[in-house]
Amino acid sequence: MTKIFAHRGSSGTHPENTITAFKEAVRLGVDGIELDIQLTKDGELVVIHDYTLDRTTDGTGKILDYTVEELKAFDAGSKFSPEFAGETIPTFREVLALLQDTNIELNIEIKKPVKEDTGIEEKMIQELEKYQYSNRSIISSFNHDSLKRVISINKDLECAILYMKKFENPWEYAAEIGAKALHTYRPETDREMVTEAQHKGFPVRVFTINKAEDMTKFFETKVAAIFTDYPEKAMKLLKEVEK
Ligand code: G3P
Ligand code: MG
Repeated sequence: MTKIFAHRGSSGTHPENTITAFKEAVRLGVDGIELDIQLTKDGELVVIHDYTLDRTTDGTGKILDYTVEELKAFDAGSKFSPEFAGETIPTFREVLALLQDTNIELNIEIKKPVKEDTGIEEKMIQELEKYQYSNRSIISSFNHDSLKRVISINKDLECAILYMKKFENPWEYAAEIGAKALHTYRPETDREMVTEAQHKGFPVRVFTINKAEDMTKFFETKVAAIFTDYPEKAMKLLKEVEK
């Protein structure tokens, strides 16, 4: 059965990648949550999608130029809606603490704009171990060097290649780098690829599915999971499809 992952939390109805968006996903009883992590100036992990503050907060400039304490002063809720004023950029640790007593799976997407070693992978792995979240986490990234680094530290973690453009036999490339799953872009994902990949043991999870017709299509294709900004809608639709 297809799993429903709340993309950046329940981000269609709540400000993306914030505690309120993750709490809403927990309340709905989603199978999984996807979030994006980045390193701060002082080497901490925070949960935010863009490399800059501008789109989702009342701040400006690069995440990497601020310490956690400085980042905590910005409002990450008001731009979505005034009713969420006061929401802050969460640390990765805060999200792990929130989810600790649930059985929700976590897809951690590493946002790392550079090739050089920054230590983000080690830091993430340490925190997953501390919160005993390693065995229900999937690590993904468009930066495949970063995934290789994760695998070289702990080959038992489930890593998934993220990519936009489809290419031949993606499972072969995934296997070469030690990744165990494919996270694919909706318009570039077809039934034949999904069937073959999953037959070969590589779960396919598709982003970002927000329209009912696309949800139904991918439920029928039996993808392992969809990432959606509207998990409540997806969960209702999945029940219909299963009837
Ligand atoms: O991990 C799936 C999806 O989140 C990848 O794209 O830009 O939304 O992080 P993006
Ligand atoms: Mg993401």
